[in-house]
Amino acid sequence: PMKSMDAIVSLCKRRGFLFQSSEIYGGVQGFWDYGPLGVELKRNLKDAWWRDMIAGHNELVSPAGAPSPFEMVGLDCTIIMHPQVWKNSGHYDLFHDFMVDCRESKKRYRHDQVRGRFVEYQDTKIFVTTLAEAEQEADEVRRRGMKYFKLRPKNADELTVGDESITLDKLDSHDNVLGPDAKSLGTLTEPREFNLMFKTTLGALGGDDATTFLRPETAQGIFVNFKNVLDSSRVKIPFGIGQVGKSFRNEITPRNFTFRSREFEQMEIEFFCHPDQSQAWYGYWRDRRLAWYKSLGLSDESLIMREHHTEELAHYSVGTADIEYAFPFLPEGEYGELEGIAHRGDFDLRSHMEGKLDPSTKPMTVELNEDGKPKYRGSGKDLTYRDEESNEKFIPHVIEPSAGADRGVLAFLCEAFNEDEAPDENGKMQTRTVMKLHPRLAPIKAAVFPLVKKDGMPEVAQEIYGSLKEHFNVFYDAKGAVGRRYRRQDEAGTPYCITVDGDSLTDRTVTIRDRDTLEQTRITIDEVVDVVRDRINA
Ligand code: GAP
Repeated sequence: PMKSMDAIVSLCKRRGFLFQSSEIYGGVQGFWDYGPLGVELKRNLKDAWWRDMIAGHNELVSPAGAPSPFEMVGLDCTIIMHPQVWKNSGHYDLFHDFMVDCRESKKRYRHDQVRGRFVEYQDTKIFVTTLAEAEQEADEVRRRGMKYFKLRPKNADELTVGDESITLDKLDSHDNVLGPDAKSLGTLTEPREFNLMFKTTLGALGGDDATTFLRPETAQGIFVNFKNVLDSSRVKIPFGIGQVGKSFRNEITPRNFTFRSREFEQMEIEFFCHPDQSQAWYGYWRDRRLAWYKSLGLSDESLIMREHHTEELAHYSVGTADIEYAFPFLPEGEYGELEGIAHRGDFDLRSHMEGKLDPSTKPMTVELNEDGKPKYRGSGKDLTYRDEESNEKFIPHVIEPSAGADRGVLAFLCEAFNEDEAPDENGKMQTRTVMKLHPRLAPIKAAVFPLVKKDGMPEVAQEIYGSLKEHFNVFYDAKGAVGRRYRRQDEAGTPYCITVDGDSLTDRTVTIRDRDTLEQTRITIDEVVDVVRDRINA
């Protein structure tokens, strides 16, 4: 059954997962705050990523499916960087959106130049009825300078347009293809173009030289520190550098809850390898990242890996695949991007070394100042790698698994949201709302209840709470009917509830209730910490 996005959004607010930023002043579009439960969930997701990808990685063995063993290290770079970083990364010149409004449908279309395509074009429906009409629309789009108007049904090999059935091959030959459902583009306003980076000023004086930007991705901090990491650690290729942190994009159409925000967090890996090995590593990271989402509870049916078509690729990219999730706010059969795994070739290191690489006219072009000096240059630093054994010198190729922490949280929230039947405090079956979050992600790992607030039960419960709290985030609740207390924890996604009852006082045992199976088992008080730990790690 389709989950209701409204119900998920309202639970998030009611229970303190997510709030609109500055809500008492009416909020700001595209900005979200994480409440007491949300902050734990997001932290758990980032910790799981860091643990599974970076800190817990064993470089001595070759993981299943990997071409060889490899090393992983981390970085934490600044949000504001030297402005030249953004020139050489391509963001200054290319990270633009074309904003086009359709006069009839009032829909807004956006085109992301860095990726050379319309992103999240589920928002961007072009409805047509005949192939001729489609071609006409495509021409119009081209005429207006929107280069890669890419509208392809995501999961179909063919598309029905009116009475005609068109296969994707045929569609691809247009270089512009069609959207899933369709309606005429209508009359478009002239495209208005603007950069998606948030501009800011360094120091007190301002002026052009002082202009810089909030980072639109964490990746560049990794590239510009490539040499530092090589020189300070003993990593050898192949190795990866991971970073988790805030990124900012002045999105034109922030929407769908936190899905597209203006301030968000990324979890990115730049994996450096030998060019000859890059395809194999690309395959490895795609599989590994997809498996990671599944290991934390996203279901097979709601996840897809979508390979980008060549004309959809960013100018630097040799291949890109998106891991996409069937978010409930999308129409049935459509998916939204959770993570992109890109083969970036040597684009970034080369650009930071040599200067801006013009995507259309390789090799690089350098803009000159009036005095004839280059306006924007590379760093001039040698960012090549020398293999100690073979003595070969090369610019490493990069595979980039780039995930959004907020999008991850949103996907796990959507997946977790369930309505089922469970007995209420009187034993009567009632609909219950339950967040079936993976125990590793759950904000609260266990709740401890005294059945009643007397006969010494609170004292025993508080003792258990104290011993659990040393290890996990746990919750103590003595208020109201125990059935109601269970329901509150179900909504918070707490996997285990421990109840102290009359028997506990004589035999020092308690019940532990499982959120998903509703099964209650009796264990001794001395076992509680170990049982909870084992179940979380199971
Ligand atoms: N370094 C490559 C890069 O930044 P991207 O596809 O633009 O690639 C990577 O972003 C991931 O960051 C996306 O898959 C998504 O999860 C997240 N992301 C990007 N823009 C976002 C936004 N406006 N709001 C929330 N998450 C976003």
